[in-house]
Amino acid sequence: MTSQTNPSLSPENLPRHLAIIMDGNGRWAQARGMSRTEGHRAGANTVRDVVTRCRELGIPHLTLYAFSSENWNRPQSEVSALFSLLLEFIQKEVPRMLREGISLKVFGDIDGLPVAVRTALKLAIKTTARGRDMDLNLALNYGSRGEIVRAVRNMMADGLGPEDISEERISAYLYSSGQPDPDLVIRTSGEQRLSNFLLYQCAYSELYFTTKPWPAFDKESLDQALCDYAHRQRRFGRTQEQVDEQKGRV
Ligand code: FPP
Repeated sequence: MTSQTNPSLSPENLPRHLAIIMDGNGRWAQARGMSRTEGHRAGANTVRDVVTRCRELGIPHLTLYAFSSENWNRPQSEVSALFSLLLEFIQKEVPRMLREGISLKVFGDIDGLPVAVRTALKLAIKTTARGRDMDLNLALNYGSRGEIVRAVRNMMADGLGPEDISEERISAYLYSSGQPDPDLVIRTSGEQRLSNFLLYQCAYSELYFTTKPWPAFDKESLDQALCDYAHRQRRFGRTQEQVDEQKGRV
């Protein structure tokens, strides 16, 4: 079924912000007798396909957890391979992003990244900044607790007092400032946890876990997750009757 014929994939039923924890590259590769780096390469191809599908469906904000602040603990060779793939991705994909109105953003401490990656990212962010159709947020050198600490420090540095602090104000100091909170978080490869990803922003997000490893997460898998989301009842602390009333259903 296409997005035209499947009502679950029509714009009003889709998340405005989809966030994905891309897990399982290593296990996917090992199960095939391949190196972890080959798993990450296959994972980078999935990134391209998922961005394509989200753009096609008109999902306006997509956040991908590509490198956590804890991932520095991985073997140096794996970290280097991940950054090479990222560089390759930026070089290949920026022209497409420009054509398709995609604006690249980074959630995380960009200045802590290797200089070549940092330089390429900053240029790509600037070049694509006018893209109005989709925000592609790469969480890189990112950890949610660190993001909150940074927000508090910046609020204090800006001279805000206790009376200035509100939920909205805190949101405005996070990397995701100006973007809606994720409606749906997908995690691949069987683990069921958030791993320090968008903890403040995900207060009301729907969670979807699949055992598929990230390299095997294809367009059909994404559509399936989106259809599952379309059938969720989101109540935000209200009763179902209140939700129906607000939607004008009763
Ligand atoms: C988790 O798999 C994945 C990562 C730590 C990195 C995600 C990176 C990519 C998908 C490729 C490059 C990214 C871009 C944006 C081009 P894992 O290695 O933890 O898998 P495992 O749990 O099976 O070992």
